[in-house]
Amino acid sequence: MARWNWGRVSVLPFTILVHLVGILCVALVLVWMIHFRGGLAWSTSNQILIFNIHPVLMIVCFIFLSSEAIVHFKSAPGSKFYKKTIHSALNAIALTGAIVGVAAVFKFHKELGIANLYSLHAWLGMLTIILFGLQWMSGFLVFLFPRGAKKTRGRVLPWHVFVGLLVYIAAISSAESGIVELVALLQGRNAMGKFSPEARLANCLGLSLLLLGALVVLSSVLSSPSPATKPEDAIAIPSP
Ligand code: HEM
Repeated sequence: MARWNWGRVSVLPFTILVHLVGILCVALVLVWMIHFRGGLAWSTSNQILIFNIHPVLMIVCFIFLSSEAIVHFKSAPGSKFYKKTIHSALNAIALTGAIVGVAAVFKFHKELGIANLYSLHAWLGMLTIILFGLQWMSGFLVFLFPRGAKKTRGRVLPWHVFVGLLVYIAAISSAESGIVELVALLQGRNAMGKFSPEARLANCLGLSLLLLGALVVLSSVLSSPSPATKPEDAIAIPSP
């Protein structure tokens, strides 16, 4: 399937940037929740620590690992089967972490008697996780086990790539809206200064997530043809 011709632009530097910006996002959320918000705990009388598990798992697992799963396909060496297996395994861990991350907010809400699923963030987040689960399941069945016929795989692949990127962008949007919701809650209770180091860190996290999303999407659409490749042969989507 011929697509845009990106000339000699190589995917490699963008892949390296994805790793670096991903690690930056992980570091920022850990500093936020551990240094500024007091740490993480599942069983405690301080329920805030239960809530803190949520942003950490959503960013470390759902965002960071799913970013790695997407770019792994483009850049990692190895057979197609190996790449598919790693892609599927990373996404499975990302999904499991996200489910535990949402369970942490449900636990936090239950222990404090707060209503569930009232905000746009909650709706968008739930929708994203459900779509992510369906995308993972369909990808596993069609491309790994029991694996569809070659023709079926060829037909499904562009949709798998499109829906995968759509769900990924929804995940970044969910994280952004989560940051806005948490900052608004904390500032509404005078628990975070408007121009405090913590507020700036939260803003930096939001911007880093946007940058990460842009780099992942770019790495995914970028083809790296050899100089001899003709424009009509430039292919960005891997074969099924
Ligand atoms: C991809 C990332 C994320 C997804 C899919 C997601 C999903 C969800 C879901 C489904 C809920 C609803 C729980 C309920 O209503 O019982 C929720 C609540 C919440 N999330 Fe996230 N979330 C994500 C990231 C984040 C991040 C990064 C933050 C903050 C830094 C955050 C902050 C919150 C807050 C403040 C609540 C509501 C807690 C409350 O009202 O007491 N979320 N999230």
